[in-house]
Amino acid sequence: MKGLILSGGAGTRLRPITHTSAKQLVPIANKPILFYGIEDMAAAGIVDIGIIIAPATGDEIREHVGDGSQFGVRVTWIVQDEPLGLAHCVLIARDFLGDDDFVMYLGDNMLEQGLTEFVEQFEGARHAATEPRLGEDHAAPAAQILLATVDDPTAFGVAEIGPDGEVVQLVEKPKVPPSDLALVGVYLFDSTIHTAVASIEPSPRGELEITDAIQWLVANGHRVNHEVLVGWWIDTGKKDPLLECNRLVLDTLKRRIEGEIDADSMVDGRVVIEAGVKIVNSTIRGPAVIGAGTIIEDSYVGPYSSIAIGCRIIRSEIDNSVLLRRSAVTDIPRLTDSLVGRDTEITKGDARPRATRVMLGDHCHVVIE
Ligand code: G1P
Repeated sequence: MKGLILSGGAGTRLRPITHTSAKQLVPIANKPILFYGIEDMAAAGIVDIGIIIAPATGDEIREHVGDGSQFGVRVTWIVQDEPLGLAHCVLIARDFLGDDDFVMYLGDNMLEQGLTEFVEQFEGARHAATEPRLGEDHAAPAAQILLATVDDPTAFGVAEIGPDGEVVQLVEKPKVPPSDLALVGVYLFDSTIHTAVASIEPSPRGELEITDAIQWLVANGHRVNHEVLVGWWIDTGKKDPLLECNRLVLDTLKRRIEGEIDADSMVDGRVVIEAGVKIVNSTIRGPAVIGAGTIIEDSYVGPYSSIAIGCRIIRSEIDNSVLLRRSAVTDIPRLTDSLVGRDTEITKGDARPRATRVMLGDHCHVVIE
């Protein structure tokens, strides 16, 4: 089984962060989102992974991931010149995939349950089909999809399940959803999918939809299995879901303190403080993670904060926020629910007239107290 991770999306809903960086590299608990997907694949025993990248952000992603050896996998890079859809990614990955079964994973999705069980079920069902005595139903599945109940199915691909548990219909972003079961961004396929992606037409949004390709499988008599997700699933493409995901991952941290904490400071709960961190006259209340070389002085860092490497937090209070590397927060009474990009400064000034003064990039979003 091979892996295919789709990491070409532009991340327009995470601007301005994505003006200068790939959305798949935004950190959750100080680790790029994409790394969780690669680690899940490695844990499921998948060592050959193709990663689809876009020309604009591909180099940065390659730099971070390297050849994959840091994860114990081999990475093949596949450039998608234009964002022509998820099924288009399968089309351009044909040489890499060959005729092998593969798991396809959207690089900005995060799930709690990992991939191992999902992959084992597909392989088990395919094996049972070749050994009739092992199974009652002998049709080998050509695909397996993962579904989750959502409040607003119109924003997703949606599946309708028949009375015998078979997938009977799939529709991308339906106006009138046939169910509340959305397609999670993890799919398993055998080589039949290559015929499917070559047979479909672009959708109204001009993309080759993987949902349409799976619908093609169903319509052409191929078996598509499904599993309903256990645990949480988050598409991290926007700020608030990203912060929510950060909270969920921070909740799983193991306490580890390597930096320096002076006698006037207090560190409570599930906290990771990396080597080279200096904490002076401050309170850190977990779950929180503080990256190497960060300085925290006369401050409070509260629950669900992920502070990257090389940041400075001085005379300020922060919680439920993600700070990217080398950011500085000075004299801010309270910063909450925030995502702060690299090398960014937030400070309070005394200059008259008293006013808010900003230099903001394009597509920023600021809420003043
Ligand atoms: C894509 C798929 C959709 C799926 C979703 C999961 O949507 O097209 O079927 O439910 O990912 O995150 P997109 O993010 O392209 O809108």
